[in-house]
Amino acid sequence: MDMKDIVTPMVGTMLQTGGNSASLAQQLSSLFDEASILKARETYEELKSLMSCYQCAILEIETKFKVLNERFSLNYERNPIETIKTRIKSPKSIGEKLIRRNLPLNYDSLEEIHDIAGVRVICSFVDDIYMLADCLLKQDDIRLIQQKDYIAHPKENGYRSFHLIVEVPVFLETEKRLMKVEVQLRTIAMEFWANLEHKLRYKKNLSEELTALTSSELSECAKMSAQLDLKMQKVRDIIENS
Ligand code: GTP
Ligand code: MG
Repeated sequence: MDMKDIVTPMVGTMLQTGGNSASLAQQLSSLFDEASILKARETYEELKSLMSCYQCAILEIETKFKVLNERFSLNYERNPIETIKTRIKSPKSIGEKLIRRNLPLNYDSLEEIHDIAGVRVICSFVDDIYMLADCLLKQDDIRLIQQKDYIAHPKENGYRSFHLIVEVPVFLETEKRLMKVEVQLRTIAMEFWANLEHKLRYKKNLSEELTALTSSELSECAKMSAQLDLKMQKVRDIIENS
């Protein structure tokens, strides 16, 4: 039997138990022999190390945005960034995503998940989103993997945001690792809408009729939030040009 065949279900178990060591140990001891468990522990350590690398990648990207914000405030006396939020995807969510995508629950599949490290940049104005994305992508250590402009092309439900998947080098003790990070750039209005839509989406048991009604109301709200962004931008332009 290939070593991978032994490790695969173990990593799957780890992901499904959310890495909780007590329940993990219990599940493993009933399923595998000692040598296999030892191997599983090694894999678990590898997984922990990988997550730490993603955390470092988040630090790199967050710092880049903080630097841009600092330079912009020096040159133009205003901050384009309102807030930066970061998160590492939980092992449980990673497991769920692998299952959703029909990928095997093993270490190698993690390569396919591009949003393990996430950085969300909440901007003041729509213009700032494109300016910041442009500045980030011009940096010579950043490689663009994927770009989705849901501002120019909102999703059918009204969702707006600018998404990037980038690769950034992380310098460890003895090596350099290229890590993928998902960057979401949006305005305060886009964040407001997306947060409420996300919350409402999980309210279940709605009839077909109510689902249609709420979807159309949410889509209407998205249009209003887009108009708000446009108007705010106009006000800013008037003030800046005066
Ligand atoms: P995921 O598998 O959900 O990560 O989506 P994807 O790989 O198709 O990528 P996409 O760029 O479309 O979405 C990435 C992320 O954007 C999601 O994980 C959400 O955080 C956010 N997002 C995308 N669509 C919506 C939406 O309709 N509503 C809300 N609230 N957030 C969304
Ligand atoms: Mg995601």
